[in-house]
Amino acid sequence: AGPLPLDGKTAIVTSGPTREPIDPVRYISNASSGRQGVAIAEALAARGALVKFVTGPAEHARPKGCQIIPVETALEMEAAVNAALPADIAIFTAAVADWRVAEPADAKLKKDASGTPPELSFIANPDILAGVSHLPAGERPGLVIGFAAETGNLLTHARNKLARKGCDWLLANDVSPESGVFGGTDTEIVFLDGQDAEDWGPMSKVEVAERLAERIATRLEALT
Ligand code: C5P
Repeated sequence: AGPLPLDGKTAIVTSGPTREPIDPVRYISNASSGRQGVAIAEALAARGALVKFVTGPAEHARPKGCQIIPVETALEMEAAVNAALPADIAIFTAAVADWRVAEPADAKLKKDASGTPPELSFIANPDILAGVSHLPAGERPGLVIGFAAETGNLLTHARNKLARKGCDWLLANDVSPESGVFGGTDTEIVFLDGQDAEDWGPMSKVEVAERLAERIATRLEALT
């Protein structure tokens, strides 16, 4: 077998949900399965890349041939990504919680006699993708790729998100409940690379990963 297209390249892939504690036994999270992240990590590894896979507690969290870095919270994910730099490629598939509980309780919250529910207050989590996208040249990976999960006005939201986050490419999909994308095997991607929007049509998450990995290989070849 000859050389592989991503031999010698390093990639960071974030995946899965994050888990934000309320108290030692309760948390806030989301339904991300990690399926798309695993497929992407495996597609890159199969092409020779050294993949650092930073994953929240997901159903799918064990891509073959990758270094697996498990985390729970968004802050832990951010620290793990920073520790995994530098990299040639960074792909942010994780469904990071936008907010965390400002002051998680040290002990399990108890029902009080009156039955009054606790009041939770939230603070914003760091945007890990935007942080990496805006690193100075030299520290920033050459190719930074984000995902957008939207429920309507897909293209408008996706274009705004690409600009706001500062990433090179954005893969947007519709995650309305009737789409079955969250947790499912299939999806439908609109691919944005700055100027152009390409509709990839319905396909499996594995096919999305293959197509993306091919495109990454072509781009990195053009850059060198
Ligand atoms: O803003 P939104 O959550 O829709 O953006 C989605 C993209 O940003 C995904 O690529 C996701 O992994 C990334 N993201 C992140 N850190 C956050 C929120 C989102 O890396 N706190």
